[in-house]
Amino acid sequence: MILFKQVADLQAALSTARHEGKTIGFVPTMGALHEGHLSLLELARHQYDITVCSIFVNPTQFNDPKDFEKYPVTTDADIRLLEQAGINMLFLPGVSEIYPSGTTPGHHYDLGELEGLLDGAYRPGHFQGVCQVVHRLLDIVQPNALFLGQKDYQQCLVLKRMVQLENIPVEIIMAPTRREKDGLALSSRNMRLSPEAREKATALYKALQYFGENITVKSIQELRLESSAFLLRNDFEKVDYIEVADAGSLLPVEEITPGLKLVLLTAAFIEGVRLIDNLEWTVAG
Ligand code: PAF
Repeated sequence: MILFKQVADLQAALSTARHEGKTIGFVPTMGALHEGHLSLLELARHQYDITVCSIFVNPTQFNDPKDFEKYPVTTDADIRLLEQAGINMLFLPGVSEIYPSGTTPGHHYDLGELEGLLDGAYRPGHFQGVCQVVHRLLDIVQPNALFLGQKDYQQCLVLKRMVQLENIPVEIIMAPTRREKDGLALSSRNMRLSPEAREKATALYKALQYFGENITVKSIQELRLESSAFLLRNDFEKVDYIEVADAGSLLPVEEITPGLKLVLLTAAFIEGVRLIDNLEWTVAG
């Protein structure tokens, strides 16, 4: 694996590869790599000649500076994992390589209703920061395909919109969420949990399942209240939301009809760590 820290060096290597007719799959990450990232990299490796992984903890997408400071950094272990996974190129830039003119955004992305819904309502500016960094990374890497994990469902829809708005010729591939045996979605943030909280955190997945299984039997408001109460009983200290939305637009659904494609989404805090999860759900008919 070749490690690049400078944009110019990475671009020179990618330009040579493109001239040789090679295709490029790209997996952007913030490091603290786990099986979820590795499954994205594996998908990319099977479909594209060259797989580029980036590790960059992007300051502009953290609305809470404490969350940014506490974000786990495990670069040496990440490099070992990437080497074992047979990844060709790692891009590990510093802030000044990504933002040579500073981190202040020079551009506002018109994300429409997606911007203020769900995570957007609780993390103001977060999705603008995600678009800012992914736009920059796509400009640098110019991949054929961008691989994203479904655990960040709203992020996937936001980035699909950004790519459309900016006319970026890249295919977006959303890969399924990887879970522990007890259902907890893999996340770099899980590393920050004590063993007790880690065990309780599985309540997040159970709450989503309960929501889906009862969607035709109980009212949405009743399910919101019951699921939130369940999370609070399982040591979550705060539930930002547990919601059901249209799987395509993320807009709230008014009526549950057979065949409807939904997504159940939640964000909640345990031991001060904000975890998110979601489940796609088709209403039985
Ligand atoms: O999902 C993430 O890890 C980040 O939001 C991403 C896409 C790498 C942008 O910083």
